[in-house]
Amino acid sequence: MPVPSTPRAVRVGVLGAGTVGAALLRLLARHPELEVTAVLVRDLDRQRDLGARPVRLTTDPEEVLAGADVVVELLGGVDRPTELMAEAAARGARLVTANKAALAERWDAWGPWVRAGRVGFEAAVMAGTPVVGAIAGALRASRLRSLEALLNGTCAYLIGELEAGVGFDAALAEAQRLGYAEADPALDVDGIDAAHKLTVLARLCADPDLAWSDVRPHVRGVRGLTPEGVAAEVAAGRRVRLVAALEPDGAGGWRASVAPRSVPADHPLAVLGAGRSALVYRGDAVGEVWIAGPGAGAEATASGVLADVLDAATGRPGPTPVAARVPSGVGAP
Ligand code: NAP
Ligand code: HSE
Repeated sequence: MPVPSTPRAVRVGVLGAGTVGAALLRLLARHPELEVTAVLVRDLDRQRDLGARPVRLTTDPEEVLAGADVVVELLGGVDRPTELMAEAAARGARLVTANKAALAERWDAWGPWVRAGRVGFEAAVMAGTPVVGAIAGALRASRLRSLEALLNGTCAYLIGELEAGVGFDAALAEAQRLGYAEADPALDVDGIDAAHKLTVLARLCADPDLAWSDVRPHVRGVRGLTPEGVAAEVAAGRRVRLVAALEPDGAGGWRASVAPRSVPADHPLAVLGAGRSALVYRGDAVGEVWIAGPGAGAEATASGVLADVLDAATGRPGPTPVAARVPSGVGAP
């Protein structure tokens, strides 16, 4: 009987070793079947905890992309990561990203790769709490009626701190220290990050062609919230939440928006959303489904990224957009 040949390790190229990239490398050290080609950074001298297995840091993307079966993008930004992933896609690699900004704003480039099932992006929305796979999978059997969610971990944390009496600036500084915030925290506090994620989700369950420019005008963040204002809501039996909503627009389509809302204390987003991300999906057949968990942070996000890498390594296709726009405001209750 011939001796079976040992399958070679799957080669993973990693773009970025910041908050999420470093945590991913620590988790990858547990997986001898996954070999890291190289890791792209800007600053080779920066101190990093990259785990037990030595990895090669480089400032040359070619060293990461050459020979990689899977390329993971954890750089942040919009255009540079899209350019590098276009190069990876052209070489036939599977793609993994946590970059909701690039997915939302550069759908022209990412859309074809996502439609082909070549991209894993579970961690782009609610980090390691599984919503992307659920919405593109089990929940697709039910036609969407509405979706409401707390999609920004920084704002969920920040509002929880305001409820505890902590000031806005101190709470934001702590969210940054905890690794929740974007490199530019204005993306968090101005609602842009939540809107990026809502755009990504909407294409999976409502409208595959929803444009970022359709969403951007309906976005408001949490600047101006104070411990006193939030406490007044609590005293009235209500809670303030930064709600990302996908709702019928009254003309058969969908309106995506992000804004602070006052919700009753027994609303699912008030119940679930004490300092964490949460989502309520209402489908015509399944009814109301609640999903909640960590929506930001190094390890929680790296967990979602690693899940995508493992899927890519075994050839499992990534989530695809809904085939056509789902009509809103119709269907069984
Ligand atoms: P980060 O801490 O700022 O890390 C970014 C990494 O990319 C750093 O290692 C940086 O290198 C490298 N980098 C950036 N631009 C580069 C360039 N032009 N050339 C070479 N290297 C470059 O960001 P992060 O928090 O890990 O987030 C990464 C991505 O994950 C973002 O898209 C973010 O939106 C997304 N995400 C983050 C979280 C979270 O909780 N933090 C959760 C979900 C999704 P240096 O280290 O040398 O500066
Ligand atoms: N800055 C983002 C947040 C990271 O606070 O939710 C997770 O996507």
